[in-house]
Amino acid sequence: MTDLSGFSAKHIVLGVTGGIAAYKACELARAMMRVGAEVQVVMTPAATAFVGPMTFQALTGRPVRIELLDPTAEAGMGHIELARWADLVVIAPCTANTLATLATGRADDLLTTVWLATPAPRCLAPAMNQQMWSDPTVTEHLQTLSHRGAHVLGPDSGIQACGDIGPGRLLEVPDLLDRLAAILSRGPLSGRHLVITAGPTHEPIDPVRYLGNRASGKMGYALASAAAQLGARVTLVSGPTALDCPRGVTRVAIETAMDMDRACQSLIEAATIDCFIGAAAVSDMRPAQVAPDKLKKGHDDLSHLTLVENPDIIEGIAQHPKRPTLVVGFAAETQAMLANAAAKRTRKQLDWICANDVSNGQVFGQETNCLHCLTADGQTTFGPGIKSDIARDLLLAIAIQLSVLKDTSCT
Ligand SMILES: Cc1cc2nc3c(=O)[nH]c(=O)nc-3n(C[C@H](O)[C@H](O)[C@H](O)COP(=O)(O)O)c2cc1C
Repeated sequence: MTDLSGFSAKHIVLGVTGGIAAYKACELARAMMRVGAEVQVVMTPAATAFVGPMTFQALTGRPVRIELLDPTAEAGMGHIELARWADLVVIAPCTANTLATLATGRADDLLTTVWLATPAPRCLAPAMNQQMWSDPTVTEHLQTLSHRGAHVLGPDSGIQACGDIGPGRLLEVPDLLDRLAAILSRGPLSGRHLVITAGPTHEPIDPVRYLGNRASGKMGYALASAAAQLGARVTLVSGPTALDCPRGVTRVAIETAMDMDRACQSLIEAATIDCFIGAAAVSDMRPAQVAPDKLKKGHDDLSHLTLVENPDIIEGIAQHPKRPTLVVGFAAETQAMLANAAAKRTRKQLDWICANDVSNGQVFGQETNCLHCLTADGQTTFGPGIKSDIARDLLLAIAIQLSVLKDTSCT
């Protein structure tokens, strides 16, 4: 029996279009709810002629969304928010008409707009008369969508509602569940390798003391956790923290900036990294010499501590011959935050930089944050909010950017 635990707490947008098999979507909605998913049904106007929205509302506990240009619904969860909320979008049944709309990139109703706007995996289960199914335009549209990464589920073959026999039947619900469970275990960052640095570094002065900073590692760990949940392979290069390694993440524990630099360099040499996120608060400097024994007052000369500069880890990554597709830095600033961050982005040749205001004890060690992400094209703000929510939103934006950059490099 297939493991359906991947549905647990997952946000599913179930698109229902105007086909005779729309009634089976009720059973699908119910089955996904039973295995722990949260289901938001989006119907095309045509679908409402086949099944009443009230049925889906009763099954899912959520009002069905139908209209795109609906100010009341937009005031709640807007269409873009809905697209981002989704861990997976599935259209079942998907009509020939909706297939054509999706294949040509039109977004003239809520469902097709959400489809275009979501970074989540997109699935469709076609269902139509066998003669419609065998039309070459339908085949072409499916090939186009499949080529762009959509998961095509079915169809089945057999007796049809119209009495014909042949391919075009909606897959049975247990089959749909199995296929969706397999896709859910992947996520929008599936197949991507992310390296994330987190925490402070400790720069030893003597065997007992070190030069450190106030970073707790919470933001970097939240990023690693969110990336793993979205299906990425994640390597977390972490300075000393009290945090547990997030599920599904490989942690490389280091102490100093030099250790972190070596770890990151060997990761980039060894494998292809799709995205590097430098969220660690790396010490800019270290004591020039580490005393072999504990320094003693009254015995040792404590009048000065000579410091030398540490390597700039993220700059080294951004300028590496095997540069990751996307290099994202962090800038913890106490003044002129945006101007300083923008200058740092350009100077270090980063793609994105996430600025955060750490003045007056904000951020370090706290559960909340607000990130101002600067790119070559502008600025997006994530938060204020809890670090796990901000991490997920940033990672979803990264998932979109990676697929855009990958598509561009293919053309
Ligand atoms: C009774 C009836 C059943 C239909 N069943 C299907 C079907 O199973 N598959 C399909 O692709 N179109 C079917 N259609 C045609 C669609 O309803 C029509 O193309 C509609 O424009 C689809 O709109 P939508 O894709 O926005 O939901 C059916 C139409 C009627 C009247």
